[in-house]
Amino acid sequence: MLYDLVISNGTVATASDVFNADIGVHEGKIAQIGGPMEGKQVIDASGRYVLPGGIDSHVHISQPSGPGIEMADDFDTATRSAAFGGNTMVMPFCLQERGQSLTGAFRDYVAQSEGKSHVDIGFHLIVTDPTPNVLGQELPALIEEGHTSVKVFMTYEALRMDDAEILATMDVARRHGAKVLVHCENEDVIAFLAQRAEEAGDVAPRAHAKTRPIAAEREATHRALTLAEVVDVPIVIVHVSNGAAMDEIARARTRGVDITAETCPQYLMLEAEDLSRQNWEGAKFVCSPPPRDRTEQENCWRGLQSGLFELFSSDHCPFRYADDKGKRNADGLRSFRHIPNGIPGVETRLPILFSEGVMKGRIDLSRFVALTSTNHAKTYGLYPQKGTIAIGSDADIAIWNPETHRVVRHADLHDGSDYTPYEGLEVQGWPEMVLLRGTTVIDKGTMTAKSHGTVVARRG
Ligand code: URP
Ligand code: ZN
Ligand code: ZN
Repeated sequence: MLYDLVISNGTVATASDVFNADIGVHEGKIAQIGGPMEGKQVIDASGRYVLPGGIDSHVHISQPSGPGIEMADDFDTATRSAAFGGNTMVMPFCLQERGQSLTGAFRDYVAQSEGKSHVDIGFHLIVTDPTPNVLGQELPALIEEGHTSVKVFMTYEALRMDDAEILATMDVARRHGAKVLVHCENEDVIAFLAQRAEEAGDVAPRAHAKTRPIAAEREATHRALTLAEVVDVPIVIVHVSNGAAMDEIARARTRGVDITAETCPQYLMLEAEDLSRQNWEGAKFVCSPPPRDRTEQENCWRGLQSGLFELFSSDHCPFRYADDKGKRNADGLRSFRHIPNGIPGVETRLPILFSEGVMKGRIDLSRFVALTSTNHAKTYGLYPQKGTIAIGSDADIAIWNPETHRVVRHADLHDGSDYTPYEGLEVQGWPEMVLLRGTTVIDKGTMTAKSHGTVVARRG
């Protein structure tokens, strides 16, 4: 058979194996692995790693972020940046603002993504207003359509739900077969500490980290796990930043709670100290939970190595720095409480873990694939359509050059922000070609295909 495409001479890696094999692609799917084959198009992958395209299951795109504040990315820029960073799928959030219909919000996000996305999309549903209609009709119908993950917040005044509301939302998720993602930080602790800091005149960005201590994350993690245990629903603890929260996860697992745990590059590479940078530059690192310290970075590495974490996501949530709709908005310059939370990272997630993890010998290539692609597909009902290199899977492939040396510069990235928190970081290894369902999207620094990403429905 003459395939549409053959990728030859590469080293293929999956979450379980690394081997040399050619890959034949037919109509966007992987059709043959190994053995003789011919293709209308041949990509010579000598000296390259052929990996499943990255799946970043935690990104924020075009999400309303409060009066006067604008996220820096729309679906075009966010997914362009994702593709240049080796990803073939991202999972953003559909935010139901209070008083809004969840279904209406969902249809809006889909409309915004259509015709603009350069990688495939799967939406998580954020519930902030669990009315009888949302819990009784809208959420079950959207889950039934294949949008099988719901996020709830324990912090942010505009988004948080109380325990009773979280329990009710978890119960609907359980009955209809969805997972619940939880942002675990205790809002009352944070509000108390933030008010105290402001009263003491401590209003610079560094106060953000001080007022969101590990104890607030640890307590909320414990509470979220307890609520999930009571309801008996699978839970995803997102963006874990420290060892105390990890201990809560490990303990709850021994009680039989069905937990998936996620950490992010900022908890390996950044520190609370970064928020103290001069001239309000610390605002560039304001995200929640905040980065911690060297000890907690090591704890997070340990979690990636041991399997405590299954997911390594970016939590890409970009705001421009030098912008009155971004980090340096007028209120934000008066107090850290008004600096929008979140940092860009969808394009640097994979190169950072590849360089700091694989090239520095902390994790092997199969673990890298598991943490950045396969486990995301398994967690969110996409496997084996996505997240692996197997016959019948979508030909979502990233071809990596492990010999590329680069210095991370925002000028070379493709998101809509105006900075990267990783400016100046030296990395080894970068994705050179990215294929979405067999079509080359990125070829050595150039975008080569029209946006053809679609919203993917999921099974469990
Ligand atoms: O600071 C962060 N993480 N912003 C994004 C929203 C969230 O909490 O995930
Ligand atoms: Zn969050
Ligand atoms: Zn997030």
